[in-house]
Amino acid sequence: MDGGTPPSGLHPACTVEARVPISVHNINGLSTFDIYKKLMMGTRIKWDLRLINIVILDWSSVVNTLLSFLRLLAFVAICILAYVFLFLTGEPIIVIQIPFLAITGMFLIRTFLGICCFIALVIYKLRRRHLSVDDAIENFLQSQINFMPIRYSYAELKKITGDFKDKLGEGGYGTVFKGKLRSGKFVAVKLLKESKGNGQDFINEVATIGRIYHVNVVELVGFCVEGEKQALVYDFMTNGSLDKFIFSTNSSLSWQKMFEIAVGVGRGIEYLHNGCAMKILHFDIKPHNILLDENFNPKLSDFGLAKLHSVDDSIISLTAARGTLGYMAPELFYKNLGGISYKADVYSFGMMLMEIVGRRKNLNTSADNSSQIYFPLWIYHQFELGENIELENMTENVNKIVRKMIIVAFWCIQTKPIHRPTMAKVLKMLESEEELLEIPPKSFLFSVDMSCNDE
Ligand SMILES: Nc1ncnc2c1ncn2[C@@H]1O[C@H](COP(=O)(O)OP(=O)(O)OP(=O)(O)O)[C@@H](O)[C@H]1O
Ligand SMILES: [Mg+2]
Repeated sequence: MDGGTPPSGLHPACTVEARVPISVHNINGLSTFDIYKKLMMGTRIKWDLRLINIVILDWSSVVNTLLSFLRLLAFVAICILAYVFLFLTGEPIIVIQIPFLAITGMFLIRTFLGICCFIALVIYKLRRRHLSVDDAIENFLQSQINFMPIRYSYAELKKITGDFKDKLGEGGYGTVFKGKLRSGKFVAVKLLKESKGNGQDFINEVATIGRIYHVNVVELVGFCVEGEKQALVYDFMTNGSLDKFIFSTNSSLSWQKMFEIAVGVGRGIEYLHNGCAMKILHFDIKPHNILLDENFNPKLSDFGLAKLHSVDDSIISLTAARGTLGYMAPELFYKNLGGISYKADVYSFGMMLMEIVGRRKNLNTSADNSSQIYFPLWIYHQFELGENIELENMTENVNKIVRKMIIVAFWCIQTKPIHRPTMAKVLKMLESEEELLEIPPKSFLFSVDMSCNDE
C-alpha cells in the first residue's frame, strides 16, 4: 500500500484507527454544540505522503568524530614520513628531532585519549539502552501475572542476593536468601539442594505457582535452572513465617488477627482446590509455609509437593506420600482410610488451626501433664467436660472466635477423609456463628501412633 493506493484497493475487512488533527477556523462566537454540528456534517481527510515525518538518525556526530580521527592519523603519518625523509637525506636530526617528537607524541596521546573516550561513550550508551530494555521487560513480565516466572541465570541470582550473604532460613529443600531486584523489589531466593533428584519437585513448583495468582498465595517472581543449580525467586514477605508467631512466647498477634490469618489461609487453599483451572493440592500446609506480608496478610508458600491434575478427578494416586510429620493426613500412611485427595490439605489445615489455638505444637512430649501431650485430644476432652478454655484476658468475643476455630479444626482432622468438610465448607463454618456449629465425634488419631508407624 502506498500513497497511490485507491480506497477500493483496501480489503473490506481492513480497519484503520487514526487520530486526525483538525484545524477549525473562525470559531469565535461558536458554541461547542455548533462546532459539534459542523463536525457532524463531515470532514474531508486527505492522504498526503509528503506530510509523513521521516525520522533520520543523527549519525553526523559519529561521522565528525571519525573524520577528525582520520585527519589526525593523516597528520601523524605525514610527520613520520618527514622524519624518515630527513633521516635518509642526512639532515641534522637532533636539531629538529626534539620539537618534532614532542608534537608527534602530543598528537598521538590526544588521538589515543580521543579513541578511549569515544569507545567508553559508545559502551555507556549501549549498556544504558540494554539495561533499560531489561528493566522494561522485567517490569512488563511482572505485571503480566499469567506469564511464566522470569528465568534468571545463576550469576544474576548472585548479583540479586549480593553473593548470597543475607540468609533468611533453611528448610528441607534448601536455603533461603534475601535479595533485591534491579527494580528495587525485594525477593526471597530459595536455593535448592543440589541432590534434588531429577528436579521433578522443582519443575512442579515452577509450573504450579507460575500459573496462579491469589492474594493469599505467595508470588513466584522467577526461577533458575543451570546445571545442578536450581533456585526459586519469591516475592519477599516482610514478616517471615507464621510459626514464629505461634510458637514464640511473646507473640504480638491478637486472637482476632490470628483468626483472620486462619481465614486467609483457608481462602488460599480453597483457591488452589477450586479457584484455578487446575486443581492444585498443596500437601505441605503447615505454619512454616504460611508467610506474612507487611500487613500480616497470610500467603501460602512452597508448592514443591503440589501435584497438578485435571479438575475432574477428585481422587489422585500418589506414588510417594510426602509432607511434614504432624500435619500429614492419615490416609497418606494407611491405605484403607480412603484415597488421597484434596481432603489431605483440609487435614493439614485443621492441624495448623489447632496449633494456632494452642499456640504450641500439637504433639509435645515434654508437656507438664501427660494428658496434654497431644493437644487435640486434650482440648476435645475439655469440650466434653464443658470446661472453659483458659486464656489470658479472654473477652466473650475472643472466646467465641477461639471455640469456633477449635470446632472447625475438630472437623478438619477427622481420621477418614470422607468425614472432613471441603475447604469451601470450612470457610463457611469459620464465617458462621460459633453456637451454630456442631461438635463432631472424637474420631481422630493420636499422631504419635502415626509417626511411629510411618517408618
Ligand atoms: N518469600 C519469603 N519471604 C520471606 N521469608 C521467607 C520467604 N520464603 C522463605 N522465607 C524464610 O525462610 C525460611 C526457610 O524457608 P523454607 O521453606 O526453606 O523452610 P521451611 O518452610 O521451614 O521448611 P520446608 O522446607 O518444609 O518448607 C522460612 O522459615 C522463612 O522464614
Ligand atoms: Mg517452606
